[in-house]
Amino acid sequence: MTRPGDRLRVGVLVSGRGSNLQALLDASSRPGYPAEIVVVISDRERAAALDRARTAGVEALVVNPKDFADREAFDLALVSELNARRVGLVCTAGFMRILSAAFTNAFAGRAMNIHPSLLPAFPGLHAQRQALEHGARVSGCTVHFVDSGLDSGPIIAQAAVPVLAGDGVEALAARVLKAEHQVYPLALRLVAEGRARMENGRTVLNLAGASERASSALVAPDLRPLAENLEDLARFTP
Ligand code: GRF
Repeated sequence: MTRPGDRLRVGVLVSGRGSNLQALLDASSRPGYPAEIVVVISDRERAAALDRARTAGVEALVVNPKDFADREAFDLALVSELNARRVGLVCTAGFMRILSAAFTNAFAGRAMNIHPSLLPAFPGLHAQRQALEHGARVSGCTVHFVDSGLDSGPIIAQAAVPVLAGDGVEALAARVLKAEHQVYPLALRLVAEGRARMENGRTVLNLAGASERASSALVAPDLRPLAENLEDLARFTP
């Protein structure tokens, strides 16, 4: 039973560095934030994300895929650990496994993921390299509900960043990551407050009462570098 004023109990699935987890932990430690991280689960023992959770005083668990006969058994073990902690919503943050229907059905509309591109462009691995190889001039990140496809669920929030001349994968990834750290806590807030929800495979947004800044932040928290870039371009005469 949840009581009014209770914060949404969130579980985070990770595999590695955990910088997005950190952004969510930091947000949830701020007064008034409507969600709390109650457990962090990694499929890898050495994930730095586990230390971030422990430092924040949050339970950190490893569920090792090698201990299970198949993907479905592993996914069901995740579901059972999450349910045991009364988790209402799951955030995957750099979790390097595709979740099967065993998981996505159990958490339909209650699981979200962050991906480092403006979906539906460049799903899957190496999104930033894909963006560079295609010559994209704008990239960014997307938070979406998880369905059984690869980075394919309905979009909740996106942030755009410019791709600058001379960018390599690292420079672009770093710029995108900064945006990820802004947009994931924002998207989690929207879902926890019931302002974004999944209905019939679509995201329904209710931003009534949200400030203009909050609703435009869904699209582009900071397009200033792009604007400066365009001014440079306008001054350029061949
Ligand atoms: C992020 O770029 C995220 O979008 C992608 O994997 C990376 C994880 O980074 N799914 P971190 O572990 O959150 O630092």
